[in-house]
Amino acid sequence: MRLTAIILLAAMAVNPAIVPARTVAGYRTIPIPQSVIPNTGESPFIIGSDIKIDAPDSLSREARFLREYLPEGLSGRSSGKIILRADLVDISPEAYMISVGPDEVTVNGASAAGVFYGIQTLRKSIPSVLDADGEIELPSVQIIDRPRFAYRGTHFDVSRHFFTLDEVKSFIDMIALHNINTLHWHLTDDQGWRIEIKKYPRLTEIGSYRPNSIIGRTGPGYDDIPVSGFYTQEEARDIVRYAAERHVQVIPEIDLPGHMMAAMASYPELGCTGGPYEVWRQWGVNDGVLCPGKDGTMQFIADVLNEVMDIFPAPYIHIGGDECPKVVWAECPRCQARIRELGLAEKNGVSPEAQLQGYVTAFACDVVRRHGKSAIGWDEILECDIPQDAIIMSWRGVEGAANGTRRGHNVILAPTSHCYFDFYQTKDTANEPYAIGGLTTVERVYSLEPCPDTMTPGQKALVLGCQANLWTEYISTFPHVQYMELPRLAALSEVQWCSGEKDFGDFKNRLPALMAVYDRLGYNYARHIADVDVRYTVDSGQKALNVTCSALPGYDIRYTLDGTDPTVSSPLYTEPLALREDCVFKTTTFRDGLQGRPVCDTLSVGPVTFSKCTLAVEPDAGYAFGGAQSLVDGLTGTCNYRTGRWIGFSGKNCDATIELASPMVLREVSFNVDVFSCDGLVDCRGVEVYGMAPGSSEFRLLASEEYPEMDPGMEFEVVGHSVGFTPTEVSKLRVVIRPQWVLPQWHPLTGCLGFLFVDEIRAR
Ligand code: ACM
Ligand code: ZN
Repeated sequence: MRLTAIILLAAMAVNPAIVPARTVAGYRTIPIPQSVIPNTGESPFIIGSDIKIDAPDSLSREARFLREYLPEGLSGRSSGKIILRADLVDISPEAYMISVGPDEVTVNGASAAGVFYGIQTLRKSIPSVLDADGEIELPSVQIIDRPRFAYRGTHFDVSRHFFTLDEVKSFIDMIALHNINTLHWHLTDDQGWRIEIKKYPRLTEIGSYRPNSIIGRTGPGYDDIPVSGFYTQEEARDIVRYAAERHVQVIPEIDLPGHMMAAMASYPELGCTGGPYEVWRQWGVNDGVLCPGKDGTMQFIADVLNEVMDIFPAPYIHIGGDECPKVVWAECPRCQARIRELGLAEKNGVSPEAQLQGYVTAFACDVVRRHGKSAIGWDEILECDIPQDAIIMSWRGVEGAANGTRRGHNVILAPTSHCYFDFYQTKDTANEPYAIGGLTTVERVYSLEPCPDTMTPGQKALVLGCQANLWTEYISTFPHVQYMELPRLAALSEVQWCSGEKDFGDFKNRLPALMAVYDRLGYNYARHIADVDVRYTVDSGQKALNVTCSALPGYDIRYTLDGTDPTVSSPLYTEPLALREDCVFKTTTFRDGLQGRPVCDTLSVGPVTFSKCTLAVEPDAGYAFGGAQSLVDGLTGTCNYRTGRWIGFSGKNCDATIELASPMVLREVSFNVDVFSCDGLVDCRGVEVYGMAPGSSEFRLLASEEYPEMDPGMEFEVVGHSVGFTPTEVSKLRVVIRPQWVLPQWHPLTGCLGFLFVDEIRAR
């Protein structure tokens, strides 16, 4: 059962000069505890300025944290004391129980970690700032809570940009607030080596510095901002200690055998050609990778992992394994000799070079295993045979988790679809700091189910947990890190922690209290969640676009239809709107005189807009968004293909049938295709337009066009196509848009299916 109270201001006492103001705590925190049972009829516990915390020595640190978390300005007398204990018996060592009665609050954990999480819940239950000097009332209650997953992670890339020790500590504080117990520390990559390795000093002397970086994704040109910095082993140990105090384990990642340009710039002999190499100043995937044909390179891998394992006591070490091109191995005599020596031959479509990566993975797993630890690798390591104790981190969707568990591996989910916090968090990308692309809203994060029902119970049991990833190509300051993490981390924390049904609406109602904690801590968090949530649905019967708006509790929604910014005197949104004509709909929230960011959409209505639209073949499940009807909703997609405006197809036509409300004479059909080449979204190759005459039941071809293969220079673009035909009266239109089936030779993903993203079919 859940309590409904949330930080209610209690009635002021009769004589405020004598009785301190009292603020009532709620227990509706994020993550929400599993069970909160009020002790109905029992008096509450009062925390005043004299509050005592009783804890054994083994919990003295937890007691210190609790004291630090209490708000300033406490006055008045406490009704008893807070007792910390760690003798709860539970299946999870991170479980805790909180009992609040009039004389005593007991936080009992199954370990010190459990106590720590109980304290986090108390901390988030009480208001972070008291309005005036006062005391806190904790309603009498029994809370029982335990995490769903033992592995609750967040990844932090400190290679692409360097972050100071204090910033890394602040990152740890931030994740601990969200009950996250793992920092996956991405310490090495093409663009910078950030951890001291005593046997290879040039890794940090040379590999930790780059003079500049490419501007944007692919330039043109470079900035003039050098990036440098690394952690000494002593500093890394300091981070491990700091994290452990907050019950966070630190898993270092040495990304190998790809993403190693910084190491190869430092020691060119590690690569196949011997270099020279540079600490890479661009982003993406570099063909230059370690040469596993050389014994010295294999020794390097062992040496680096051995030194790293001495620093990091966590039971896991991340060995990377992602994005390792094999082109240089195919040409390298030493790699080819190694392939012969190992007897590797093409097997089930897996090339000898791909199996050579399997050899490197197995070697690294072996080094890690000798320290009694297990290796984690990105899901590419599944592409060949690997040791059974390797743990799979599924990032290219959730397929890595499905395949990995099918093969008996433990897995951790970090799919781009839900967990990439370097992606945009709003479709209003024009007003956001530059990001790598994509769209991962708070709601999207919240919707992740790490153990979908497509998994068997045996597979589900192999899921250790999930994590968010923060790659920092375009993130150079710590406030920007916070902005990308928060409040998406809050949504992730419920995925990681909470069992049972989740309710996004309820989560949103609980978020303002956590935002108040962010405010107190000075975090620079994103506030899109406080913007208007606008949903559109086409009503083809009424020929209208229905607009439904919602916002967090306590926020007013106002809107305009002429594109001007809403003000406090603009119309108040009270019920769904039906838009029928061209307009620019702009809406924003207002609260206590503060205005949120406007959400703006342009509606452009043509003859087929709002008509009934169906598809012969459904779009891909991950890119169905608003479905067929969004092709004629009057809203046109921008270049970001995850905004919900586009629908995406791979390996099939976009075959849409549009039923006009009444027959009309048409002479042209137009539509847009979204090109986002690096992700495999390319332009279409042809279109056929058919019309059905009134009274007929057959379609007749009106026009067709072929388009040439897309120009390799086209990267990110909305491409408009239109096809003209003899004016014809039709009652139905059928538009068949043909994709680039397989990506062309010049494309980095050549051989894979191309994606076709289509929006807004218009006619005149
Ligand atoms: C990854 O995002 N390359 C693991
Ligand atoms: Zn080689």
